[in-house]
Amino acid sequence: MKCKVTGELIKPFMSFGKMPSANGFLEKEKFKDEVFYEMEVGFSKKCHLLQLNEFPKPENIHNENYPFYTSSSNYMISHFNQFSEWLKKKYLSLSSNSKLIEIGSNDGTLLKNFNNTNTQAIGFEPSESVAKISLKNNVNTLKVFFNTDTINEVKNFKGKTDVICSANVIAHIPDLKNVMESVDLLLTNKGVFVFEDPYLGSMFSNVSYDQIYDEHIYLFSLSSVKKIANLFDFELIDAIKQMTHGGSMRYVIGRKDQHKISENVNTLLNYEKENKLDDLESCLNFKKDCENSKINTINSLKEMKKKGKKICGYGATAKSSTILNYCKLGIETIDFICDTTKEKIGKFSPGSHIPIVSVDHFHKNNPDIAYLFAWNHKNEIFQKEKDFIKKGGEWFSHVDLQK
Ligand code: TMP
Repeated sequence: MKCKVTGELIKPFMSFGKMPSANGFLEKEKFKDEVFYEMEVGFSKKCHLLQLNEFPKPENIHNENYPFYTSSSNYMISHFNQFSEWLKKKYLSLSSNSKLIEIGSNDGTLLKNFNNTNTQAIGFEPSESVAKISLKNNVNTLKVFFNTDTINEVKNFKGKTDVICSANVIAHIPDLKNVMESVDLLLTNKGVFVFEDPYLGSMFSNVSYDQIYDEHIYLFSLSSVKKIANLFDFELIDAIKQMTHGGSMRYVIGRKDQHKISENVNTLLNYEKENKLDDLESCLNFKKDCENSKINTINSLKEMKKKGKKICGYGATAKSSTILNYCKLGIETIDFICDTTKEKIGKFSPGSHIPIVSVDHFHKNNPDIAYLFAWNHKNEIFQKEKDFIKKGGEWFSHVDLQK
């Protein structure tokens, strides 16, 4: 495989085996047409970037069937509210009539916060299913991928954009070079590119290997973002840890020599050096951790089944596709997965073909054990599912739910 940024040849350090598209929830009739790819992961020595080898075309994922709605979590709604306040205070306060672009604006959860302000905000969102909702929320939305061609649709933003932001999207875009070129064409001299994504350091320490799936082509660290930014005459000027998605990082990138570099950058880069996040060695340790986690998960679930326990899944997350297909779990172990998303209910999980049902079904069926696939939303879910524990139910996960 080749590094998608530097072009160097990379030897994948592990494979999770054949995987379907993680958000490819499907009807029974479509089982026979399901497409699988080999989920191999490699590490670029030149830009310290963990990346997938093969993945489906983004056009096959981000279309009218894309089933992930940011607003499905109250916690995420409040996170995006805080994120927008932070942007306003830190990077938009000085300029009236400022301009902001969000890459992958989903259903408009973040951009809604700029309605009726003096910031001219526009979202790029190619998935018709979610973009439709965004437009209903009166959010200015272009139903296209973000790239050097499509930014011509917002010519008045070229060289005049104060902030380009994005959350849980940049890791999804195969052509990172084109993202940086587009950012370069759009930003003012002092403008910033701010993005959040799941953090490599958190994935390694939690052994949350389910962060890796077809849509997450990259797992970023400060070390990799710094290297990539430098290749385009930008620099990493700040980085702030986030609680979202089980451990994320907010990166702030600006043009070289235009900003003071925050202390956070050095502190976190030192942490990464100490923990070898800039070295293949940490990837090889992670591989061993994944193999152990897989054995533990399979054995624990087998043990529960032997005791006659009824097991279900909670949250038909994209992440669950990696767990179910890597550990080869199906309906012999997990009876159903409940989820609040109406587009997923009535369908089956990709590859493992477990029925997706409503949360109401979960309440009525009294399972003994619930595998919390949406472990990143545990506080919100534990809060609303207190009765499950009262009735003797138990939560299960391959990550530590006490942390
Ligand atoms: P995510 O981990 O990619 O954010 O996906 C979360 C999934 O979990 C999404 O399909 C919605 C679902 N979900 C529930 O079913 N109940 C909940 O309380 C929350 C927060 C999410």
